[in-house]
Amino acid sequence: MNDLEALVAEAHARFAQALHPADLENAKAAYLGKAGRLTALMKDLASMDVELRKTRGADINRAKQAIEAALNARRQAMADAELDAQLRAEALDVTLPGRRRGQGSLHPVSRTLERIEGIFRSMGFDVAEGPEIETDWFNFTALNTPADHPARSMHDTFYVEGGHLLRTHTSPMQIRHAVAHVKRYRDVLDAGEGMPEIRVIAPGRTYRVDSDATHSPMFHQCEGLWIGERVSFKDLKVVFTGFCHTFFESRDIALRFRPSFFPFTEPSAEIDIQFGHGPLAGRWLEVAGSGQVHPNVVRNMGLDPERYIGFAFGMGPDRLTMLRYGVNDLRLFFDGDVRFLSQFQ
Ligand code: PHE
Repeated sequence: MNDLEALVAEAHARFAQALHPADLENAKAAYLGKAGRLTALMKDLASMDVELRKTRGADINRAKQAIEAALNARRQAMADAELDAQLRAEALDVTLPGRRRGQGSLHPVSRTLERIEGIFRSMGFDVAEGPEIETDWFNFTALNTPADHPARSMHDTFYVEGGHLLRTHTSPMQIRHAVAHVKRYRDVLDAGEGMPEIRVIAPGRTYRVDSDATHSPMFHQCEGLWIGERVSFKDLKVVFTGFCHTFFESRDIALRFRPSFFPFTEPSAEIDIQFGHGPLAGRWLEVAGSGQVHPNVVRNMGLDPERYIGFAFGMGPDRLTMLRYGVNDLRLFFDGDVRFLSQFQ
């Protein structure tokens, strides 16, 4: 082996030892760089005579090509290895089971509200919504609730800035909806003709300073209102009985209209229901307040109480949800615990 062959073999070995691209570039400089071994040999050529220079020059060139080829081969091998490692690191195990995205579902109380709306729509009722921050007028005064009525006490009502309050019931919607209805049919009314009946439910959130297993500071109510020229307490019984039978999918339910008092209805009644079957069988359960709309309230709707009459009710969708699903603590609905809520999917 001559000196050039030995040099090529040595370069090969050094390139093979290089583990990183930087090592390889250093090794390259040792042979092909300005101060490299091959470069030094080329410089020696200058002092040789012509014949020797020719053959020696050709030999050096071949050695140089061999070293360059070895360098490139090593570079390529390194790049391949790096790509390999990267692919291995990023490998996906396509046999792993997929991660499912948790599927949301309707809140049980929302389900109840949808059921209530569907049932009343089928009986020709509109569905209306109104503000949760109310004025004193709509929440109390217009509903024939005098300034000294206990419902106004600071203990029951959340007051907010500016003299407003969080509505304590959905009854303000009786006035809001009726006033809008009357406005729409002003011409008809002024002409002394019959106005289309007001038939509406108004579900939504309500607020009272109250908290225990059956009371939450935020709870739901659903108001009902039917006003016309010949709407009677009998219609209330028919509508509400039909609603209960459809809602609970059973005719084995008795209803009781128990005399009560509300400032905005006269006469007034609490509506109790009694299941003839199931774990609650035989117990009377209060589900709504109701009554014939008070003449003062009819007047505040912009209607003549001598001509227009009707009934209203306010029921508790939270209570209905508890009864339908057999839940005994109202607060569970509002804790937001998915373990509880997912049972109603
Ligand atoms: N607003 C009453 C309450 O919250 C319920 C009710 C509504 C009673 C309509 C009569 C008529 O208790």
